[in-house]
Amino acid sequence: MWRLMEVECVKIVPGPASIELGRKIAHLIDVEVVPLTFKLFPDGESYLRLDGDIKGEEVVVVQTTSPPQDTNLLQLLLLCDAVKELGASEVTAVVPYLAYARQDKRFLQGEAVSVNTVIELIQSVGVDRLLTVNIHKEEVLERFDISAESLSAMPLLAEYFLKRGLAGAFSLAPDRGAVELVKETDAILKGGFGWLKKERDRITGEIKVEVEELEVRGRDVVVFDDIISTGGTIATSVRILKQQGARRVYAACVHPLLIGGAEEKIISSGAEDIVGTDCVPGKRGVVSVAPLIAEALG
Ligand code: R5P
Repeated sequence: MWRLMEVECVKIVPGPASIELGRKIAHLIDVEVVPLTFKLFPDGESYLRLDGDIKGEEVVVVQTTSPPQDTNLLQLLLLCDAVKELGASEVTAVVPYLAYARQDKRFLQGEAVSVNTVIELIQSVGVDRLLTVNIHKEEVLERFDISAESLSAMPLLAEYFLKRGLAGAFSLAPDRGAVELVKETDAILKGGFGWLKKERDRITGEIKVEVEELEVRGRDVVVFDDIISTGGTIATSVRILKQQGARRVYAACVHPLLIGGAEEKIISSGAEDIVGTDCVPGKRGVVSVAPLIAEALG
């Protein structure tokens, strides 16, 4: 059950990409929401105006950077810059999905290390503290000069499945990178966990999975990942699980980007449902990270 908590003298600015989430967080910590006038000009440029006084206040800007990530990222920068210029004493940027976090190194000669540029941009507009959720790789946080923290929504996702009667379900990571995530969900679902060995071709994006026998025959399984983008990773995992005799298989992630036909791909591979969080707003973002963020701000 959500509870109200007290936070000293903070105002919340929900950005255009996270209006609902921003309001939920403000409600939970019982602080004022600063309304925003927002529009997109016919040429696609963003117009933002804060309709409230924030001089001398600690301000929390909530703006995710899921697709359209470049627009949402720029709006985040515009907002934080404006808030600082208008006299906020401190700015916390809550960026539930941090765009470009997967491009954290030069995988191929000549590539831009995009996340480094994003970090520099965020710092350049005077953000004092950054909060995000399940950043693709925790090590990236060390590249910030400001305080930067990644919260984990995995317990919230596991609790959701617990409530849906999936206690004892097996937690599967679709690749080794997600093993730490399923350790967290297994602590709640308590059905054991495992992982697949996935490799992605850096040029074509094609994925290959080395199939090993998992202990899933006749059992319910939830495949947990940080991001579902095109759905290829999860759909492949679901198919393997079904071939190995799993009973019901669910797809879950923190950041349901669900590009193109991802949902159709996953459901037609045999998944019962696709569950995500409101780090990415949309119909699959059914688990709210508001309590998690509220607690971190409190
Ligand atoms: C990559 O390592 C991530 O954790 C996800 O597995 C990946 O982004 C999912 O992408 P897609 O849904 O396109 O397979």
